[in-house]
Amino acid sequence: MKIFKNKKDVITYVDDLKSKKKTLGFVPTMGALHQGHASLIIKGLSQNDYIAVSIFVNPTQFDNHEDLVNYPRTLDSDVELLKTISEEKIIVYAPSVEDIYGDNVVSKSFNYDGLEHEMEGRFRDGHFDGVGTIVKRLFEIVRPDKAYFGEKDFQQLMIIKKLVVKHNIPVKVIGCKIHRAKDGLAMSSRNTRLKPEYRDAAPFIFKTLRTAKEKFGTKSANKVTEWVTIQFAKHDLLKLEYFIIADVDTLKTVKRKSNQKSYRAFIAVYADDIRLIDNIALN
Ligand code: PAF
Repeated sequence: MKIFKNKKDVITYVDDLKSKKKTLGFVPTMGALHQGHASLIIKGLSQNDYIAVSIFVNPTQFDNHEDLVNYPRTLDSDVELLKTISEEKIIVYAPSVEDIYGDNVVSKSFNYDGLEHEMEGRFRDGHFDGVGTIVKRLFEIVRPDKAYFGEKDFQQLMIIKKLVVKHNIPVKVIGCKIHRAKDGLAMSSRNTRLKPEYRDAAPFIFKTLRTAKEKFGTKSANKVTEWVTIQFAKHDLLKLEYFIIADVDTLKTVKRKSNQKSYRAFIAVYADDIRLIDNIALN
């Protein structure tokens, strides 16, 4: 398996693939790889000759220094997992902060037509500027034909789609279904940091989303939101940060339902000091 630490080597390797008319898919990650990442890579391999996987904990997208410091960094086991998928068809790019940012570790500023001001954008200052900065940089280095993002970070997926249109980046962005543990918890690198009692409690998030979906069939968005808020207020371990029912195109909170629109419920919850997000399509 090719493992590159340096963007120059990635650029040379990709130049060679392109000269041979090979197609390249891309799965950007922050490492601590799990079955959710594996499912994106497997889908990518079914649609491309090769897959590049970047492993980089991007400092500029963290608004919380402790979260950045504690974010799991597990390159060796990540590579082992990738080898079980394919040794020949996967290229790993695991750069240093310096290789990406030089000595200027700052975000560029992006306008995503308002998508950035909703939900995660409200609660994580500068997050989507950091995401835009790193993803655009990685797209410039890796130059993939297709890139794969999980729907767990649905707002991020919408923002990346907007980014490529606004900046004319020639890549097809493909959203992939949320991969869940058997008990329903959405797969996330942060799950490995949950203490056992919080890991046991965490499936309550998806259970509540499923019931919220059922209720949305007959009740208003406000009533469903009220109901979810009460469920978490009664919960001993999980603390609700937000629950929002939003229009999937604008990500704006729904005021009045319309049959013509598609809606999704989005949630962010603290399990101790670990922040978990999830979402569900409602109609
Ligand atoms: O979703 C993630 O893991 C990150 O936000 C991404 C897209 C790899 C950018 O750092």
